[in-house]
Amino acid sequence: MTGARHIHNIALIGFMGTGKSSVGRLVAEQLRFPLLDTDEMIEARARKSISEIFAQEGEARFREYEKEIVGELAGRQRTVICTGGGLGANEANLASLKEHALVVCLWASPEKIWERVRNQTHRPLLHDPDPMAKIRQLLAAREPCYKQADVLLSTELRSLKEVAAQVLHQFHTASAQSR
Ligand code: S3P
Repeated sequence: MTGARHIHNIALIGFMGTGKSSVGRLVAEQLRFPLLDTDEMIEARARKSISEIFAQEGEARFREYEKEIVGELAGRQRTVICTGGGLGANEANLASLKEHALVVCLWASPEKIWERVRNQTHRPLLHDPDPMAKIRQLLAAREPCYKQADVLLSTELRSLKEVAAQVLHQFHTASAQSR
């Protein structure tokens, strides 16, 4: 962390099923900051669900929506930002988030991720004949980027509350240093 950064937001990045939304909610409540969810912003903009965007417009278009939203987030102050799993796996998105936010990556093993997402149906990337292999492959491809976050937090051995407390601690330290 350098003194040159102006950290007034928190951005949670990380793979599907790592608890970004739940942790984001807890952190936003504690800080009394608004919570923004990039997937919800995209759905509102496209007036379609994420699944419909993937099916009708394709993944590449979805990634463009993500880029647009990331650019707009630069104007936010005192906001907790929850991102879709692929957003923080893009170097340019990550660099943009770091300009105004402490970027925290939530982490879990492929096994844990699968355990958490297996009964959910709203993620088009996991509509795959072998979802476990898909998780492993995507996670391995994204890992180098995720690991460039300011903070990397395992969510396996901690409760959501403990993860949220860690995020808050890191944010207070980082924002005090960046003043
Ligand atoms: C995606 C993750 C999803 C959503 C979309 C693509 C990804 O968000 O943005 O289905 O590429 O990992 P969650 O991480 O909130 O599930």
